[in-house]
Amino acid sequence: MKGISIIILAAGLGTRMKSNLVKILHPLAGMPMLSYTLALAKSLRPEKTIAVIGHQADKVKETFSDYDVDWAIQKEQKGTGHAVMQARSLLNNFNGNVIVLSGDTPLLRKETVSKLIKSHKSKGNRVTILTTELNNPYGYGRVITNANGKVERIVEEKDASDTIKKTRLINTGIYAFDKDFLFNSLSEIKPNNAQGEYYLTDVIGIAAKRGLEINAVKAQDSDEVMGINTRLELSKAEKVIRKRINDRWMLNGVTIIDPETTFVDDTVEIGRDTIIYPNNFICGKTRIGGGCTIYSNSRIIDAKIGSDVKIKDSCLIEESKIGDRASIGPFAHLRPHTELGRDVKIGNFVEIKKSVLKDGAKANHLTYLGDSHVGRNVNIGAGTITCNYDGFKKYKTEIGDNVFVGSDVQFIAPVKIGKGAIVAAGTTITEDVPADSLAISRTKQISKKGWAKKRRRQGSIKRVMGQGAKDRGKGVG
Ligand code: UD1
Ligand code: CA
Repeated sequence: MKGISIIILAAGLGTRMKSNLVKILHPLAGMPMLSYTLALAKSLRPEKTIAVIGHQADKVKETFSDYDVDWAIQKEQKGTGHAVMQARSLLNNFNGNVIVLSGDTPLLRKETVSKLIKSHKSKGNRVTILTTELNNPYGYGRVITNANGKVERIVEEKDASDTIKKTRLINTGIYAFDKDFLFNSLSEIKPNNAQGEYYLTDVIGIAAKRGLEINAVKAQDSDEVMGINTRLELSKAEKVIRKRINDRWMLNGVTIIDPETTFVDDTVEIGRDTIIYPNNFICGKTRIGGGCTIYSNSRIIDAKIGSDVKIKDSCLIEESKIGDRASIGPFAHLRPHTELGRDVKIGNFVEIKKSVLKDGAKANHLTYLGDSHVGRNVNIGAGTITCNYDGFKKYKTEIGDNVFVGSDVQFIAPVKIGKGAIVAAGTTITEDVPADSLAISRTKQISKKGWAKKRRRQGSIKRVMGQGAKDRGKGVG
């Protein structure tokens, strides 16, 4: 938008959060709080966006290093008016209107700011404030109007008399200003208030005293302009954002059985006809195809999931790729760099790390596969373990296409199993196995006839003589 620049106020620590982390970096629906305001600013296509930061400035800059924003530093937090002043020199070559946003108001929508800008431009006023009415206005600056309904000034909670505290019309902290008017009036404000700060809100009083009309635009949805000062408000904002995200996916053809207990980050994408059961966390850059079913209690982070995939109950899936029609879980753990082909089946209590399983491979029960490459249609029997670590280094297990691995097999890596081989149950593989062969390592079984019965008889005699308990303590029984 030509003739528009944006200043975002974000230098405060956020004392009321009672945190070591600066407020604007607190995660909200998986993203740091300030990212919402930065995204909003970007969507308005201003000539310039300046964020005023102070507390933990280096950390903030690093977090948002790939955003198109200029940083202004406010070394000491002397109030919102003082904060805006810090952006002045960065706007030397700019003429037009300045929109002030706050880094702690992440629910604000583009439509509302556009409405503010439109009204500001059409009325031709020097200043337009975004207000709203709240049933519980506690903590906000109150907007005081005169007998004609014109805005006269803003009074902060801490400076307000009991009568003023009853005012339900509040300042959202979002404004449109004529740039020259803004900086000229800011040079007049004084920290004569309960907090000893330079209040940006005092600019409103200055405008009124000069006989300028102050334009006010009311936000219809009061949730949207909620400022986050405490963790209680953070959780309320989280609810609102989560609901927006879930509503969007449901309107796009995703079934969410219980939106209240389904936590989808803003950065996630989900295909149509996917069904999500309650109590799932779908996080980060996860992409889920169409027609999938995600049963209850899973956490999925940065995963790429194909179409028609089933994630059965209680899985943890991290930075993994899953092919079409695969079935995962229940109780499976896919650790980073796992790549599963189409129609792969991963069952109960299976952990996979940095491994590739090609199309149609199966590991259905109680297995650990680490640093392995498993070919097409391989069957991995119950209780198979890749012994990939010798205490110093990690080694690879390579299993060719169509290999059948029986139950309770250990692969002492590095080893290679040729295509079509069979590994017998209970085998410990220490050497490579040629294609199409049988590998078996077992000690010969002995069955001693009648031994058990005899043992029991001896045991009962000893018990009669009071010795049974002692023997059992030695682990004989
Ligand atoms: C502010 C407004 C209040 C309004 C409310 C809306 C003032 C004086 N008050 O109050 O009228 O109802 O927002 O949410 O403006 N900041 C700085 N530097 C500073 C002080 C603050 O950058 O020296 C930043 C904060 O990091 C924050 C924003 O400005 O992002 C607002 O500051 P905060 O202290 O939260 O103001 P409120 O008390 O909420
Ligand atoms: Ca605030």
